[in-house]
Amino acid sequence: MATALAGSARQLKDKIESRTARIGVVGMGYVGLPLALLFTEERFRVTGFDIDPRKVETLNSGGSYIVRIPGTEIQSAKEKGFHSTCDYSEIQSMDVVIICVPTPLNEFHEPDLSYIRNTAEAIAPQLREGQLVVLESTTYPGTTEELLVPILEEQNRSGLKVSRGPGASGFYVAFSPEREDPGNDTVARRDIPKVVGGVGPEALELAAAVYSSIFNRTVPVSSPAAAEMTKLLENIYRCVNIALVNELKQLCHRMGIDIFEVIDAAKTKPFGFQAFYPGPGLGGHCIPIDPFYLSWKAKQFDFHTKFIELAGEVNVAMPYYVVEQTVEALNRHKKALNGSKVLVLGMAYKKDIDDLRESPSLTIIELLRQKGANVSYNDPFFPYVGRGRHYNLDMHCTPLDNLGQFDCVLIVTDHSDYDYQRIVQESQLVVDTRNATKGISSPKIVRC
Ligand SMILES: NC(=O)c1ccc[n+]([C@@H]2O[C@H](COP(=O)([O-])OP(=O)(O)OC[C@H]3O[C@@H](n4cnc5c(N)ncnc54)[C@H](O)[C@@H]3O)[C@@H](O)[C@H]2O)c1
Repeated sequence: MATALAGSARQLKDKIESRTARIGVVGMGYVGLPLALLFTEERFRVTGFDIDPRKVETLNSGGSYIVRIPGTEIQSAKEKGFHSTCDYSEIQSMDVVIICVPTPLNEFHEPDLSYIRNTAEAIAPQLREGQLVVLESTTYPGTTEELLVPILEEQNRSGLKVSRGPGASGFYVAFSPEREDPGNDTVARRDIPKVVGGVGPEALELAAAVYSSIFNRTVPVSSPAAAEMTKLLENIYRCVNIALVNELKQLCHRMGIDIFEVIDAAKTKPFGFQAFYPGPGLGGHCIPIDPFYLSWKAKQFDFHTKFIELAGEVNVAMPYYVVEQTVEALNRHKKALNGSKVLVLGMAYKKDIDDLRESPSLTIIELLRQKGANVSYNDPFFPYVGRGRHYNLDMHCTPLDNLGQFDCVLIVTDHSDYDYQRIVQESQLVVDTRNATKGISSPKIVRC
């Protein structure tokens, strides 16, 4: 990949290799903050940018707002020069700017690129010759070159253009997707290969140099669009396979077969099969959302992405299936859902994390309430759940000291800290959507 770099590209690469390059990370969230800390550990001087003054204040006073990042890590980063700011004028003194802002869907289920657009508009007036800007937010192929680059070119003060060819002046732009799997500690973050695609060979080489300093392997691809598509392929692959097992779970339920037993048996095959597990529905910032970035973009090419739509349909229906199964389970106990006390165990969208975004628990609670259930929840990560983008709950966490009072305990998120044996023992009825009670035999358990 190495080209004979000259001029500002050569200077930037030297700065990266000598760890004197200043790194700015925009968006101090689940992706940006850990990334900023990784660079700090590698002796770079790092500045974290965010529009949320509370986050900036917390970080600058050595605190953390992400459970898996202890305050001690922030304090040690601060001692190494890390600081955070809302002031975009500091972008001028950065050599590399990495954008990690949200990419949600809007109310019409279409890509909401306003965060990327706003960030680009804030960076552009501060841009200077020789800086590298990398987009990490998940998005459809084309965003970097069709949205980010034009804003940076049109709204900078010096008429700078993106440098596309060897030796051309200007600034450098690349895309590199974030591939982290929150809560999965089996692979260290630096061992997750980092895919990079540059606008031109110099941007690619510079972006690869930056990431090589904190990741053990970088994977160069021919363009930002190829890198953008790589991330979507990975997430669509997950989404489609999860939909497949979710559908088969429903069939197996009717046939009296345990889908989890079947998956465990199938995964003993040493080739050609990768295990995916069914659940109560998709959650998180990625899998329920990213595929629709591609299906939206595909329409521009007069192309209908059938797999994505079908998988979406199956996965979106899962919370409804869970509620139906809860109704049936209560019915077998001669009870109606209407008026029953239901405890939802686990609010996070997956186990052992403090992330509520798009969690199926939110939909399930809403559906249960609509049908007249008296719903409580427990989740060690959330003492209170108020209102968010798509929900308005206003609920406090219920302690697990009187499980017998509930007509049904519904396991939605299988946090590791729960004592499932005790939960089954003390509950009247347990509906388990995660196979969390595997190995426990009791007529009180309904697995669905
Ligand atoms: N969370 C994950 O596990 C994960 C994994 C892979 C990819 N991604 C992708 O990474 C991107 C970021 O996700 P996240 O989970 O870190 O989001 P997040 O909501 O946790 O963090 C985003 C941060 O950006 C800040 N922000 C918003 N607009 C800004 C602006 N104009 N300038 C500065 N800061 C701004 C917000 O205040 C917030 O702190 C998304 O595109 C997401 O799809 C996330």
